[in-house]
Amino acid sequence: MAMAFSALTPVFIAIICVLIGIILKSSRKGTEKKESTPNQKAESRPWVDEDLKDSTDLQGEEEDDGGEWQGLDDDIAHIPFMTERYSEEDMVKRSKDLYTLLNKRRSVRFISDEPVPREVIDNVIKAAGTAPSGAHTEPWTFVVIQDPEVKHKIREIIEEEEEINYQKRMGDRWVNDLKRLRTNWIKEYLDTAPYLILIFKQVYGMHPDGKKKTHYYNEISVSIACGILLAALQNVGLVTVTTTPLNCGPRLRVLLQRPVNEKLLLLLPVGYPSKDATVPDLKRKPVDDIMVVI
Ligand SMILES: Cc1cc2nc3c(=O)[nH]c(=O)nc-3n(C[C@H](O)[C@H](O)[C@H](O)COP(=O)(O)O)c2cc1C
Repeated sequence: MAMAFSALTPVFIAIICVLIGIILKSSRKGTEKKESTPNQKAESRPWVDEDLKDSTDLQGEEEDDGGEWQGLDDDIAHIPFMTERYSEEDMVKRSKDLYTLLNKRRSVRFISDEPVPREVIDNVIKAAGTAPSGAHTEPWTFVVIQDPEVKHKIREIIEEEEEINYQKRMGDRWVNDLKRLRTNWIKEYLDTAPYLILIFKQVYGMHPDGKKKTHYYNEISVSIACGILLAALQNVGLVTVTTTPLNCGPRLRVLLQRPVNEKLLLLLPVGYPSKDATVPDLKRKPVDDIMVVI
């Protein structure tokens, strides 16, 4: 019996070694996996709208089009480019004038119901549509709401979601940071402003043959267009407040019957400021704090 046991000992030892090896290998794999996905452990950021994420933002998750050329017209004519040329003195004056105008822009949360000509809205949106875009894909849709009933439905959806955002979804930090701006979930301007402009980013487009067209850098492109839109509104003396209705995108997309490739990026209520409008007394950083010259 003792002989048989001692003869089997090397076999037992070999089996135990193999088992330990397997256990060690699988536990190392586990830690490697954990180390390579640090974002999963990142702190929770409830103000990041899940709906706005799309495959172009997630590296490696882009739809595989087999590297196929997207059929953009490479035969396009190239034409001479002309632009205004100003004297240096004029350049200084024009740059100062535009800065002075834009420096008066404020986010206004009290908007009167006084009507605004539609042609002005058409023109500011035309101006926004001049923005550059990744590979000239122009991945934007500006939905202009003037119908009071639709505006009210939008208000109902936003106030319902915003109340949950303020009271449950968002942490104390977010609620505290907003305190000084005196914002809350009641958004009267959604009824009073003569226009609501909802800006959707098209996360992909469609080719005539029904294939998906990649919209490179769609969020950056649409954000630039929104910046131009804000400047164009300021230029005609209208006001707005840049808003990002958190968690409202899908419901608003359905209400406005927009296709699934469109995601709500911003909502701008547009009009004249109401007579008793106030704004927080914010200061802007001086140029030395925002510019580095090398
Ligand atoms: C991306 C972005 C999202 C914003 N979201 C909101 C919002 O949901 N509600 C709001 O009242 N203001 C919002 N604002 C406005 C900011 O609070 C405002 O721009 C900031 O306080 C500076 O004030 P000013 O625009 O008057 O210079 C947003 C601004 C930006 C750029």
